[in-house]
Amino acid sequence: MTLQALPEAKPESLDEAAVLVIGSGIAGLTFALKTAPLGRVVVITKKDRATSNTNWARGGIAAGLGEDDDPELHLEDTLRAGGGLSNATIARGVVEEGPARVRELLDWGVRFRREGEVLALGMEGGHSRRRILSAGDRTGREIERALLAAVAADPRIRVVEHLFALDLLVCEGPDGRACAGALALDTASGALVEVRAPVTLLASGGCGQLYRYTTNPVVATGDGIAMAWRAGVPVANLEFIQFHPTALWPAEDPAFLLTEALRGEGARLRTIEGRPLMEGVDPRGSLAPRDIVARAIHEHLLETGDPYVVLDVSAIGPETMAERFPGALQGCRERGVDLFGEGIPVVPAAHYICGGVVTDPVGRTALPGLLASGEVAHTGLHGANRLASNSLLEAVVFSHRAASLLLEEGLPELPALGASAVVAAPGREAPTPDRARLALERERLRTLMWEGVGIVRTDARLEQTAAKLEELLDRLARLEPEASGGAPGVEMAELRNLATVGCLVTACARSRLESRGLHFNRDHPEADDAFVRDTVLVAEARRR
Ligand code: SIN
Repeated sequence: MTLQALPEAKPESLDEAAVLVIGSGIAGLTFALKTAPLGRVVVITKKDRATSNTNWARGGIAAGLGEDDDPELHLEDTLRAGGGLSNATIARGVVEEGPARVRELLDWGVRFRREGEVLALGMEGGHSRRRILSAGDRTGREIERALLAAVAADPRIRVVEHLFALDLLVCEGPDGRACAGALALDTASGALVEVRAPVTLLASGGCGQLYRYTTNPVVATGDGIAMAWRAGVPVANLEFIQFHPTALWPAEDPAFLLTEALRGEGARLRTIEGRPLMEGVDPRGSLAPRDIVARAIHEHLLETGDPYVVLDVSAIGPETMAERFPGALQGCRERGVDLFGEGIPVVPAAHYICGGVVTDPVGRTALPGLLASGEVAHTGLHGANRLASNSLLEAVVFSHRAASLLLEEGLPELPALGASAVVAAPGREAPTPDRARLALERERLRTLMWEGVGIVRTDARLEQTAAKLEELLDRLARLEPEASGGAPGVEMAELRNLATVGCLVTACARSRLESRGLHFNRDHPEADDAFVRDTVLVAEARRR
């Protein structure tokens, strides 16, 4: 099916954009602000504009600004956390650019915490110096507030809410394949909308919703990775899923995150009986990198059958809690948690994917016209484990680089969409097959991933999970509405994206026969030099 084959069912068209941005978090908004001089920038987001992973970020953004710090130390910490897989050149560039990008955030009006006039620097796991800029423990919310205000003040940028990108528009022209924008679903009216643009930035965040327990909002369904994969763009290192050690128990959806900065300020993990959890596990104790702490908690819960471990915040005290961690204080109180009595019950939860859509050092993917920045991208910075608070930093650096390149080189021509368009435009959303059935399949998928491709993996469980995911994809194919001439609704599209990304994560995990960073396989518990390389998956572009 092609666009030309469906004249009556032609989707509605937004006016052509100079730049299309998919996602309204820090990566998308900073890119929009920087590329506005190029013309009309359209930012699309599947919910309202503030619903992004960025908005949920609690900790902060890392930058070597302290007097006892410099980019070299930040680089060392980043590479150590990355377990031998970070690209050292990329990492050096990111930490060196960090302070400049932070100054831009300040210029856009972000109010980072200060001590007097001086920016306050916090501590998190894996860092050898205080270098986390924060806004209490609601940093993401503050960044999102400031960036949305800056975007609102720029008439060249239009933010379109409730427009869910279903697929990339990919054209086959005389010069090869190129991205020409995206086909999106207006979730309010059910109409399909084409947003054509010579440049598209994927800034759609991660895929935490793949897992039964996650700190990510319900929108984090791996849409960008799945769309890029369907368009034939390589993805890499998806096995490196970061589980945050301290989500509030019992976990809600999304789980309430207790920022790592609490441990940076003296909170400690202990068992329900009061034994220090990390004693004898790692000399850095509760502030060891996240992979080590999350695994220690997981093993402890398996061994003992305890439902949670305890985050003891008594060393911080009520006054500092109120001043520095108002979000944690309020969130715990609202849920009846006695912070200074029993301590805070916590469990690990999926938090961040270190791999993603492969980009070059300026954010370009393998598909001309398609850029990627933020959690959706694999830039080479994080390697096998992301250092805390390096994710917002990566997003601003790569959005800046991608925007600078465009400003320097100018926009490419908009590729002509015609009979060769890879992605079909079926017209309108088809009736959702069966909402209850889709919801059930989504829950099954999340449990499957939690048990099969979670904190600790085994060959047998990975194999079983891969088989079950294939079965799920078959069931979904039978439910797909395209055969009846319609586009998928939100539930179907999200589930299909989650299932696709689940398959890709599992494939990456199965191919890494060692343990490194966030990927721990009990059947291959040691790191193996043969695997000091990225896991890159390459797909043939195909029609949906
Ligand atoms: C946190 O506040 O612990 C999360 C920060 C991050 O993911 O880097």
